[in-house]
Amino acid sequence: MTADHIRQPAEPATPTIADTPSNTEPARRPPDDPGAALTPPEQVLRPHAEQLYADELAALAAEDELPRPPGWRLSPQAVVTYLLGDGGKISPKYVGQRRLMEVAVATLATDRALLLLGVPGTAKTWVSEHLAAAVSGDSTLLVQGTAGTAEEAIRYGWNYARLLAEGPTTDALVPSPVMVAMRTGAVARIEELTRMPSDVQDSLITILSEKTLPVPELTTEVQARPGFTVVATANDRDRGVNELSSALRRRFNTVVLPVPASVEEEVDIVSRRVAQLGRSLQLPEVPAAVDEIRRVVTVFRELRGGLTADGRTKLKSPTGTLSTAEAISVVTQGMALAGHFGDGVLRADDIAAGIVGAVVKDPVTDGVVWREYLETVVRERDGWRDFYRAARGVL
Ligand SMILES: Nc1ncnc2c1ncn2[C@@H]1O[C@H](COP(=O)(O)OP(=O)(O)OP(=O)(O)O)[C@@H](O)[C@H]1O
Ligand SMILES: [Mg+2]
Repeated sequence: MTADHIRQPAEPATPTIADTPSNTEPARRPPDDPGAALTPPEQVLRPHAEQLYADELAALAAEDELPRPPGWRLSPQAVVTYLLGDGGKISPKYVGQRRLMEVAVATLATDRALLLLGVPGTAKTWVSEHLAAAVSGDSTLLVQGTAGTAEEAIRYGWNYARLLAEGPTTDALVPSPVMVAMRTGAVARIEELTRMPSDVQDSLITILSEKTLPVPELTTEVQARPGFTVVATANDRDRGVNELSSALRRRFNTVVLPVPASVEEEVDIVSRRVAQLGRSLQLPEVPAAVDEIRRVVTVFRELRGGLTADGRTKLKSPTGTLSTAEAISVVTQGMALAGHFGDGVLRADDIAAGIVGAVVKDPVTDGVVWREYLETVVRERDGWRDFYRAARGVL
């Protein structure tokens, strides 16, 4: 945050940000912005998408001849290619329907904000990070919505020491990620929008409809530069906690991210993510065992849907969500077990504990569901003896 981003009250009355260069310049964070100095990717546990995929983004930008919306780093076509991969050097990030991503990207090119909605673990956060990385080269302008999120997190706050010493000045103002995104023409991300109290959510209304953020204390405002937009995520399960007000709903286009359509698709997602995670955590090399991954995915899908894959046996569903995200962590944990304590091959033993841990969240009710599944389905299934034995051992 610097003084010159916001017009001093004493300056001539042009109600806009003083140092705005030209609107045709690509969106970029000001070099003096505190968050701009990022730690080199190889030194952090989890690099941001724009760091991890810097090469892909650069290659796409170099080849991209299609028109780019003002403030965008890539054309909408190239953003979708970045998300879905091109079968060659651009790796797929999102696995699913192309149309969904096209609708999401097209929304960002309009003056409406994007709301990604879905049950837990459907890649809402993941897609929002990659969208921000591809569109504005910066996925870090993030507000995490919680019941305790205050308006300052969306608008701006004050450095109280300076406020007391100097009164309200531009130096004493602490901008929110949304304000920084408006100033620089970038994508602001809001996670778990519906967990925030409704009055805090409503502070987005002026920002989204007027594209301005008034700062009455300084009798000024921050007007958004082209490229500014908001990508919010919300969890289906939180519905009813804090509903999205209808005024705000009208300002968002909603894209619902579905659970993976088939076992194959889910196995594909889990295999890719596990391989990436294994590399970044530097786990011992364990060959991706598609059979074990398929087993985890099958168990999760059957229990989630309350029906066996052959459609013959009805099942009770446990209380937990058993999302793709959980399948990914069960397999990653299994790889760590196999690599550090096993023989380097992912086996039923390595995934059994993780599966039971994911399914049995409530020892009483889920325990019953799991035992019933184990005895009626797993025990009878061809080729699943090893898993049955391993899972019995965990109970
Ligand atoms: N269709 C998909 N394509 C690619 N990755 C996926 C897909 N579905 C889930 N994942 C993976 O699942 C993991 C969890 O996704 P993410 O955290 O984005 O879920 P979420 O929808 O934000 O969940 P929550 O509601 O719990 O916040 C990520 O690692 C992501 O890569
Ligand atoms: Mg999320």
